[in-house]
Amino acid sequence: ADLTACNTFAVPARAAWLAQVEDPAHLPELMAAAGEAGLPRLVLGGGSNVLFTGDYPGLVLLMANRGITVEPGESGHDRVRVAAGENWDAFVRWSLAQGYCGLENLILIPGSVGAAPIQNIGAYGVEVAAFIDHVRVWDRETGAFRELSAPDCRFAYRDSLFKQERDRYVVVEVSFRLPKAGLPRLDYRGIREMLAERGIQEPSAADVAAVVEALRRSKLPDPSQTGNAGSFFKNPVVPLARAEALRRQHPDLPLFELPEGQCKLSAAWLIERAGLKGWRQGAAGVSERHALVLVNHGGASGAEVWAVARTVMDTVADRFGVQLEPEPLVL
Ligand code: EPU
Repeated sequence: ADLTACNTFAVPARAAWLAQVEDPAHLPELMAAAGEAGLPRLVLGGGSNVLFTGDYPGLVLLMANRGITVEPGESGHDRVRVAAGENWDAFVRWSLAQGYCGLENLILIPGSVGAAPIQNIGAYGVEVAAFIDHVRVWDRETGAFRELSAPDCRFAYRDSLFKQERDRYVVVEVSFRLPKAGLPRLDYRGIREMLAERGIQEPSAADVAAVVEALRRSKLPDPSQTGNAGSFFKNPVVPLARAEALRRQHPDLPLFELPEGQCKLSAAWLIERAGLKGWRQGAAGVSERHALVLVNHGGASGAEVWAVARTVMDTVADRFGVQLEPEPLVL
């Protein structure tokens, strides 16, 4: 089966087998059959956080279950259960149309609802973890369906239990706790600036959604036009002393202090300063719009994208002594 349309990098790759999972109840038998045949198994949502550097020798399961169920709650929140196969951006728009607040900063992120908790998607000052009540999974180790509470999911910056124990859980449904009213999150400076430019003083969730949409469209390449998987690297976290030493050499280095003497650096800044923004090698390269995004300009293979990624990591390590870590799953 051809996977080109199943990954937003749009690199060519083939899977030995491909199954669309419309009903998660079929997961146990599908997994077992592939296991008995000695095949590795990979679960994919929208394919927006994966890089295939070659063919996949096993069974790829595409989560395609659908459905949104609202359980009205007290204290200004509803519980909203969403099937893993729903599209993330469509769900955000649905939530805003229903009058819920909170997900507006996360509009236009590619991928599926089931993938959102895996890397704890985050943008413009908000992480999805803040709205997750629990995640329903199929546990490959015990063969049972179960519900994991938000603390069980061990959410952190671009991280969760699902990344730490990769391959153990298949997310089949995400249950959100969505506020019916609330103040928009304006921590991100770019949002405040654009709201001011638009003369908006008391922004609604819809105003923030419109601004985030405009910011994303101006900074990030659209995967339907240019293959990419969003930020290819995590923003590196280093000890504060190390960050301050770097700051002495590079006074304009952006840094974000974290608790416990840690500091987050801007990977995009490091890559741009290393002279790699817009750099390309054949059809693969670093986006000219945003240095953290690797792109397939058309016709690149996954191996070519990965070669660019390695050059970026090596160059940044040489220049700044900072090791970048890929964010998507590289297979
Ligand atoms: N910058 C550069 N060069 C660039 C782009 C950015 O030097 O080409 C510097 C600027 O100084 C800028 C800083 O990097 O102030 C931060 O840039 P930006 O606000 O775009 O955020 P980011 O840290 O690069 C993160 C997320 C994005 C998310 C944005 C906005 C990660 C790995 N990425 O990027 O998430 O949209 O913040 O909140 O944390 C994704 O994960 O796929 C993704 C797009």
